[in-house]
Amino acid sequence: MNTKELSRFRQLVRDTADHPRVQIMKTYRQHGRISTYDHCMGVARMSFRLARLLHIRTDEPSLVRGAFLHDYYLYDWHNHQHKLHGFRHPKTAMHNAIRDFNVNSLEAGIIRTHMWPFTLRALPRTREAVIVCLADKICALRETFHRSSPRAEHS
Ligand SMILES: [Fe+2]
Ligand SMILES: [Fe+2]
Repeated sequence: MNTKELSRFRQLVRDTADHPRVQIMKTYRQHGRISTYDHCMGVARMSFRLARLLHIRTDEPSLVRGAFLHDYYLYDWHNHQHKLHGFRHPKTAMHNAIRDFNVNSLEAGIIRTHMWPFTLRALPRTREAVIVCLADKICALRETFHRSSPRAEHS
């Protein structure tokens, strides 16, 4: 990202990323040693970049906010109580995001459908939702294979 893009991204992500409940995600593990917070930051950044790179017209504030909150389920999924995590967490994250951030319908849709095709019937129906669904998979793969730094906000 160039300097202008980076400052736009930081401006868009700030309010969500700095929220005290979002900060809790720094204590939950996502893939490997990466926290859920870093994963969400990475997906927000990847979504922003993909939209710009592919010249896809999006509602950028909602794209970034939905992307950041896509895994806002607020627990450590390695805990055995969360065996159906893969299927259930998009709905949990969406309800948490509505409760804490009053997200709009576009943002709620992004969160709800990000696991598609794993959640077969929750199909992404907006450009923003498709981008986040794709960005999440790219980031998860990269994190699993330790190929990239999760500290996306600093690069
Ligand atoms: Fe997820
Ligand atoms: Fe994710």
